[in-house]
Amino acid sequence: MAVISKLSINHFRNLESQYIIPSKGINLFVANNAQGKTNLIEAIYYLGHNRSFKTKIIKEVIHFDHQSFQIIAQIGDDRIKLEKSKIKNTVSINQQRISNTSQLSQILPIQIITPDKGFVVNGTPKNKRSYLDWGVFHVKPNSVKSFKTYNKVLKNINNLLVRNKVDELDFWFLSLAEVAANINQNRIEYLQQLKQTTFSNESELLSTLISPLDRFDYQFSSGWPKEVDETNQQSIYNYLSSNTHNLLRVKHLNYGSHKASIRFSLNNKNECFLSRGEQKTLSIIFWLTQVLLLVNLKTKPVVLIDDLSSELDSKKINIILQYLKALKVQTFMTDIGHNLDIIERINPSIFEIDDGVIRIKN
Ligand SMILES: Nc1ncnc2c1ncn2[C@@H]1O[C@H](COP(=O)(O)OP(=O)(O)OP(=O)(O)O)[C@@H](O)[C@H]1O
Ligand SMILES: [Mg+2]
Repeated sequence: MAVISKLSINHFRNLESQYIIPSKGINLFVANNAQGKTNLIEAIYYLGHNRSFKTKIIKEVIHFDHQSFQIIAQIGDDRIKLEKSKIKNTVSINQQRISNTSQLSQILPIQIITPDKGFVVNGTPKNKRSYLDWGVFHVKPNSVKSFKTYNKVLKNINNLLVRNKVDELDFWFLSLAEVAANINQNRIEYLQQLKQTTFSNESELLSTLISPLDRFDYQFSSGWPKEVDETNQQSIYNYLSSNTHNLLRVKHLNYGSHKASIRFSLNNKNECFLSRGEQKTLSIIFWLTQVLLLVNLKTKPVVLIDDLSSELDSKKINIILQYLKALKVQTFMTDIGHNLDIIERINPSIFEIDDGVIRIKN
């Protein structure tokens, strides 16, 4: 169970040197525009992923007046420390430097809800895969190896296709078929578990975010053509082999597990026709169902919600808060302060952010 008991931030964007002691339940950060709400969410996300959801450039997240940033968090008995500058890039857990970021995600699993990262409903396939594989990873931590192998083999195949090296392809097709069948199987199993959770009694409260007559649904799309049995290694291999001629023409593998996606619908209406509010609501249902599934599987993630109130009415905000409270997950949420009366009903720890300085209010 992940709970941050102390968080120190030094020179991350506009957040100067400071620390906070969050509560293990819901923590609310209230501030006007441009005070540091998203920066705080980004800092916590950085801790769990060793990267930002906004930029790949380290310099952008270091405070303008400084050369490096540091974020330290105590999570149970573990202490995670990130320190980054133009020349230094260290991540350590309990003072041991680590090179494998998946260790971070295991100590600090984070489910993030932010318009900055894009919604999952009507989102890009890449974003959908990132949320899907986040769940797969927490249910099957070994899946990280399959994803790494897949990407390596895919790179080799594309390289050979560009150079027209037909003879060497067969070996890599075999490797890709093996690892792709495994990835597809894991993704299908995970989504089945998630669907069961979506339609279980435990999700009753979440389902009240939409009308009882509305039917929210989602389907997995593996990225492989219809004629391929995506969980069967032989079927994948046979398809790749028989399709070599086409691949040599397009010079890259234009289908496969790296193109997987999830197709969402509401009342059989394709996701692209939904309003932004509907997309946000359904995305929240999907994300918070993932949180419920992981809680049931004994991995309690930390939930980050940036800009809770935007695009949601007070009834929906109330439902989401009740749900998070019942799940007993540590939550960091930001708000501009428009719906304080509703949020205060669930007794959160309230912090205020003023020009990069975070202070507890109650
Ligand atoms: N590297 C940096 N160094 C110092 N300040 C920065 C850096 N990067 C961004 N900022 C500033 O941090 C401030 C707060 O940004 P942030 O996105 O956290 O605001 P916010 O509170 O989420 O506002 P909003 O309500 O508009 O979403 C902005 O004024 C921004 O310009
Ligand atoms: Mg913001």
